[in-house]
Amino acid sequence: MRGKVVVITGATSGIGQVAAEKLAALGARLVLVARDKTRGEAALARLREAGAGVAHSIHYADLSRLSEMKRVAQEIAGAEPRIDVLINNAGALFGTRQLTADGLEFTFATNHVAYFVLTDGLRARLWASAPARVINTASDAHKGNKLDFSDLQSANNYSGFKVYGRSKLCNILHARELARRWAGSGVTSNSLHPGFVATRFGDESGGLLSFGVRMAKNFAISPEKGAETIVYLASSDEVKKISGSYFYKCRVATPTREAQDEDAAKRLWIETAKLAGIPADAKPPEGRSGDRVI
Ligand SMILES: NC(=O)c1ccc[n+]([C@@H]2O[C@H](COP(=O)([O-])OP(=O)(O)OC[C@H]3O[C@@H](n4cnc5c(N)ncnc54)[C@H](OP(=O)(O)O)[C@@H]3O)[C@@H](O)[C@H]2O)c1
Repeated sequence: MRGKVVVITGATSGIGQVAAEKLAALGARLVLVARDKTRGEAALARLREAGAGVAHSIHYADLSRLSEMKRVAQEIAGAEPRIDVLINNAGALFGTRQLTADGLEFTFATNHVAYFVLTDGLRARLWASAPARVINTASDAHKGNKLDFSDLQSANNYSGFKVYGRSKLCNILHARELARRWAGSGVTSNSLHPGFVATRFGDESGGLLSFGVRMAKNFAISPEKGAETIVYLASSDEVKKISGSYFYKCRVATPTREAQDEDAAKRLWIETAKLAGIPADAKPPEGRSGDRVI
């Protein structure tokens, strides 16, 4: 990874933090996106220990807000002439339904729209840096869920875990649709399940949900183990041509039928672009080497 630039969200904690440190230890230069100054500076200090002599950097943004997603993408694109890997990883689980300043449901905004907007805002840099990679941290929690396009903001029958599962389904569909749309650009796009990992995840979800997640964490794997598939997708030669796949334990895995639904992926792309106020039809420049879209 020496000489490679890796942009990652959600690296102030848990799986993202370990993945960033491992990639820094492999020689990459990390560009973090974080919302909290204290945790951000601490993460940057740890990176400097893991990957000494490299100018790791940080940008601040609350990834639940559209204006912040767009601003930080613009800021990073302005600062980084090339981006070899983008890791969309920040995520959260909300016990009760809340709306962001943009009127979007918080889980949908943070876990899905932010992945979409940041990727879109960095697309020119990714295309110019091909071969490059986009990696979405999704989850097996997508299982048992289907998108309801008449209620993407979960106004009806809100259930924190169900809405979280749907947002993770969005991550898989987004990675697949990105792979399809950017085929031939030299930029691959994949998603992954890290396993059930003992992190801060769920601690702030509130009430019974936090209690349940805390109990379940007794059976969870370590963040070191949970970060393995992200590091693999970011750095391994084995996956350099694979695009549109879902990974678990560093292997291609099969997500649910709903997560392989091409029509849903296309529709989600268009609806998200509309909600984010972004044109849906940006096309990569022609003539790059082909990726194997699975
Ligand atoms: N833990 C699991 O078992 C598990 C399983 C499957 C998938 N995942 C996925 O793995 C990813 C990482 O989760 P984790 O387990 O490592 O949880 P975590 O320890 O809670 O880390 C979440 C990260 O996301 C950041 N974040 C959350 N909301 C944000 C916002 N509005 N703006 C900017 N950053 C924000 C957090 O920042 P702060 O430090 O400021 O809070 C933190 O860095 C998530 O996408 C999650 O869905 C986790």
